[in-house]
Amino acid sequence: MSTEQKTNNLPVAVALTGASGAVYGVRLLQCLSAAGAEVHVVLSDAARLVLKEEMNLISRDLADHSGIVIHKNGEIGACLASGSFVLRGTVICPCSSSSLGMIAQGVGETLIARMGAVALKERWPFVLVPRESPYSTPLLENMKLLSLYGATILPASPSFYRQPQTIEDLVDSVVDRVMVKLGYEAILPDWQGLDHSSKK
Ligand SMILES: Cc1cc2nc3c(=O)[nH]c(=O)nc-3n(C[C@H](O)[C@H](O)[C@H](O)COP(=O)(O)O)c2cc1C
Repeated sequence: MSTEQKTNNLPVAVALTGASGAVYGVRLLQCLSAAGAEVHVVLSDAARLVLKEEMNLISRDLADHSGIVIHKNGEIGACLASGSFVLRGTVICPCSSSSLGMIAQGVGETLIARMGAVALKERWPFVLVPRESPYSTPLLENMKLLSLYGATILPASPSFYRQPQTIEDLVDSVVDRVMVKLGYEAILPDWQGLDHSSKK
């Protein structure tokens, strides 16, 4: 098996935290599962609240897709707490300002924060999807730090140039970018530029 094939078969870690936009995390899990990935998922307590409030779902519902393993955030002995459990990448989606700050400052008390610390030390693809408005100066500083440390700050900022018709289209415009960052096929068709769309 080539190194590329080995990397493509590695599991992915996804944390959902208590920022608004649980739908981004849920859709990401659907797409990863559809791509055949083994996905290790952790939800913070606040993420569980937001998931219920925004989507009327509980964490167990997320395991309905194949390949999904759910861990508790307090489970600091889980495989995800060690860099010896090699991953294709780590994603925090949606990412609260609080979790982002903890990871930027190197605090690893919860499994989610530890996942972030491990992703930084192992230097594998690490994508954080913050959702906040407006951004505070500490949040901006923490995002800058993480970017300098090699992580990708991929804000939950949907795009409109593909003329989205539904909320799902908007969500996919963010999730598509996360999938591509992890080295998966895009979930949206290639964008051919404004010239092309004006000729339609
Ligand atoms: C309904 C709801 C929406 C929230 N939206 C956001 C948000 O968009 N961004 C954010 O950073 N925090 C948001 N919060 C606050 C976080 O949930 C809170 O800071 C929490 O302590 C984060 O913990 P966690 O990082 O462990 O998930 C929201 C909380 C609730 C209840």
